[in-house]
Amino acid sequence: MPISVVIGSQWGDEGKGKIVDLLSQEVDIVARYQGGANAGHTICWGDKTFVLHLVPSGIFHEGVTCVIGNGVVIDPKAVLDEIRMITDLGYDVQGRLLISHNAHLIMPYHKALDQARERYRDAEAIGTTGRGIGPAYMDKFARTGIRVVDLLDRDVLRAKITRAVEEKNAMLTGIYGAEGVDVDAIIEEYVEFDKFIDPFVTDTTQYLNQELKAGKHILAEGAQGSLLDVDFGTYPYVTSSHPTVGGCCTGLGVPPTEIKRVIGIVKAYCTRVGNGPFVTELNDEMGERLRQVGHEFGATTGRPRRTGWLDLVALRYTSMINGLTDYAITKLDVLTGLDEIKVCTHYRYNGTLHERFPSEVQTLEKVEPVYETLPGWKEDITGCERFEDLPVEAREYLQFMVRHTGVDISMVSTGPKREQTILSERERLLVTA
Ligand code: IMP
Repeated sequence: MPISVVIGSQWGDEGKGKIVDLLSQEVDIVARYQGGANAGHTICWGDKTFVLHLVPSGIFHEGVTCVIGNGVVIDPKAVLDEIRMITDLGYDVQGRLLISHNAHLIMPYHKALDQARERYRDAEAIGTTGRGIGPAYMDKFARTGIRVVDLLDRDVLRAKITRAVEEKNAMLTGIYGAEGVDVDAIIEEYVEFDKFIDPFVTDTTQYLNQELKAGKHILAEGAQGSLLDVDFGTYPYVTSSHPTVGGCCTGLGVPPTEIKRVIGIVKAYCTRVGNGPFVTELNDEMGERLRQVGHEFGATTGRPRRTGWLDLVALRYTSMINGLTDYAITKLDVLTGLDEIKVCTHYRYNGTLHERFPSEVQTLEKVEPVYETLPGWKEDITGCERFEDLPVEAREYLQFMVRHTGVDISMVSTGPKREQTILSERERLLVTA
């Protein structure tokens, strides 16, 4: 059995948590491959809502094993809190949650540096989640990071942390005017953490490859979104990892030839948190309506999300770089009640129309969206069980998306609950190009 990958096709917060939770029913393993506790994957059942930051959303399916891969940066506090929350809900994680021994750890100085650097950049701040993600990946690539495997040898751990703290404290106090961190307190905290996570740590790359050979089906879960990818996103307003499909191979150690399906999660409109260009942004009543009806407030930071119309130029780009095989459309119900809906099909720059997404932020900040206006619908769609049950205008909206991107739709989410989803039957797609 192959690997299926779930990818955020916009700037994150597309509703991946719900889709991964649904797809988990059909797979053996769910594996997270990048990012850290900057992500917030929301799952709703009945009247309960849970937010997971690190543990893959498949954990609530008893038969599924969840993996936190080597590409993830792990915040001990976040992982401990999450394991406790899942256990308190009555789910056994022992033997079902595996953490890569090669994953890098987020250290207290990463969080301190992330926050201090953002204050220092002031008007040019990226708008990070402040969870230490950028500084942790900086250390990984500077080859000064601390990995889960380093917790095993206390002497090595102490030496590495001591060296790192000397350098980081010089930066924190000398450059950013912030407070330094205490070496002994960090060592104590991380030694305690080691005792707790030890039973979960393993060579997840060996495990995943062995399970692939045994015919198991893996669902690889990307966090954030493709437009936040450090290479392909709106650099420098990006996260420090690869939410795109390539991150799956490097973040888990699985071969690309095993990837058979790449599902792009697409919110029916766009949102973004943090700074950076957003061509279809709405700073008006319509933007506020999308924010309120769609509950567009960050699952990790609570920040109000910026909102705007669907951007097909950006979606064509992320569909291309990920080789998306199909879309899962989320939050279609949020558009219910509008007289008309705009969709951006092209950008205008210096008087000419552009179909392609520009790579530099300077151009992206200057382009204007070119919209087509489609009719809206008034009927409540939250109970629709089949594609044919949707109002004709909603179906046309989805068909328009497929026509302009060439990617088929296999799932449509019409509300936050599991059952509020229109699924394609077996191999039959809902809308085809
Ligand atoms: P960082 O990942 O905390 O370094 O933040 C970098 C950028 O990515 C900021 O604009 C964040 O708001 C954004 N970001 C990080 N994680 C998420 C997420 O899970 N959803 C949406 N945006 C995110």
